[in-house]
Amino acid sequence: MKDEVRAHYADLALRDTPLSCCGGAYTPTDLADLPPEAAGLSLGCGNPVALASLQPGEVVLDIGSGAGLDAFLAARKVGPTGRAIGLDMTEAMIRRARQTAEQAGFSNVEFRLGDAEEMPLPDESVDVIISNCVINLTLDKAQIFREAYRVLRPGGRLMISDIVTDKPLPEPVRSDPKEWARCVGGALPEEEYTRLIAEAGFKRVICIHGLDFRQVGDVRVYSANISAEKQMGVAKTTWNRGFSRLFPPEGSTPQAILARPQTNEEVV
Ligand SMILES: C[S@@+](CC[C@H](N)C(=O)[O-])C[C@H]1O[C@@H](n2cnc3c(N)ncnc32)[C@H](O)[C@@H]1O
Repeated sequence: MKDEVRAHYADLALRDTPLSCCGGAYTPTDLADLPPEAAGLSLGCGNPVALASLQPGEVVLDIGSGAGLDAFLAARKVGPTGRAIGLDMTEAMIRRARQTAEQAGFSNVEFRLGDAEEMPLPDESVDVIISNCVINLTLDKAQIFREAYRVLRPGGRLMISDIVTDKPLPEPVRSDPKEWARCVGGALPEEEYTRLIAEAGFKRVICIHGLDFRQVGDVRVYSANISAEKQMGVAKTTWNRGFSRLFPPEGSTPQAILARPQTNEEVV
């Protein structure tokens, strides 16, 4: 499956048309200040940057960045003190995105070749993760959400646009590599998708339906925007980052907590 997906997107990396599967998700304003080479190829099913409330200075990871459009939009929002990192497993996509970044003069964006199932990023190193029509293509979605949780800083957030279904797809569709590459075969029921996100540790998992993409028999296949948070922990322990009076764990002082990096184990 992975080889089929990679071959499909290596081929698309050579083209120059917007091929978004669920209709255009970008307004002319979104694209207005982007150089034409950066807006060239969009294969997404939503516009996660528009929903992620990116702030100047934030570090953003785009999982499955393709030709780089969302990474460029994110780079523009986080500004010179922030950074956007695009991650993609298809070499031709990475090559194209890097070339565009250079031609368009983006200095706060980088593109890394790698598999989202094993992200080439340190623990707790990004503020926001975005992804646009990618995770449906992957084999081990639970592993991807665990990796997303690992690389996000406590307090970080996830904003995904992806294809989901209202019930399980029939087996022949799920096992057809071409259907996978077209963002259908690997699409999970919305309920299962959001459960996997929660099982990875995320809180406040919210799913908002987007546009219908296809009907496969009695299964509705549609886009969705899914947000979630890696919470810092607000119930018992945190004095750090703006919280002033909460309940200390036994034997701790505010100073001791501030002196060490907060770990997830401290979070309730
Ligand atoms: C449908 S395209 C979307 C590209 C981009 N997000 C956009 O909106 O234009 C899917 C992209 O995900 C990448 N991809 C698929 N599986 C991946 C994985 N396991 N790890 C990293 N990238 C992956 C593909 O190479 C392809 O570039």
